[in-house]
Amino acid sequence: MSLPKRIVLVGPMGAGKSTIGRMLARELGYRFLDSDRIIEERCGANIPWIFDVEGEDGFRQRETAMLAELSEHPQTVLATGGGAIMREENHALLKRDAAVVYLKTSIEQQVERTRRDRNRPLLQNDDPETVLRNLFAIRDPIYTELADIVMFTDRKSPRLVVRQLVNRINPKTPRHQRQIRKEGRNHA
Ligand code: S3P
Repeated sequence: MSLPKRIVLVGPMGAGKSTIGRMLARELGYRFLDSDRIIEERCGANIPWIFDVEGEDGFRQRETAMLAELSEHPQTVLATGGGAIMREENHALLKRDAAVVYLKTSIEQQVERTRRDRNRPLLQNDDPETVLRNLFAIRDPIYTELADIVMFTDRKSPRLVVRQLVNRINPKTPRHQRQIRKEGRNHA
């Protein structure tokens, strides 16, 4: 089995898409792309500002344009924003030449990992847990439907998630072959 041209990470806020994506890219020798960060760089403003000035709809338009552009880059691991799956027109862009990975995460972990975050406009209210719960109810079936791989991240270090992902995507990356040979020698 050969590596897919692109690996696309989807999942809710707090799933660890950026952290895991960066580590996975390093492991596979792929380039790491983070859709939200590139939107911010291009725009010269952060996501709360974009939501404030252009509304969520303005942000979603930028997101679709960004996904269209980034879907053309081979040998990349792409971390997407949690709502990237909400526009149906994005689905083909996410799936283009890609293995889509859903980083599935419990509400408790999402709450824990986003607790002190000020950069996620959808969670700046009195009850972020209910927001996350409602979003999960709508989005979980869509993430699941789109995904080639569903990977649970609860109570796992990013390192472990990456190792399990590499094994699912392709157990024969050069680094793993070296590791397997080394382990073989050690046990000889
Ligand atoms: C959003 C998730 C965020 C960001 C924006 C909207 C969402 O990305 O795109 O705040 O709709 O779930 P992360 O999933 O990286 O936090």
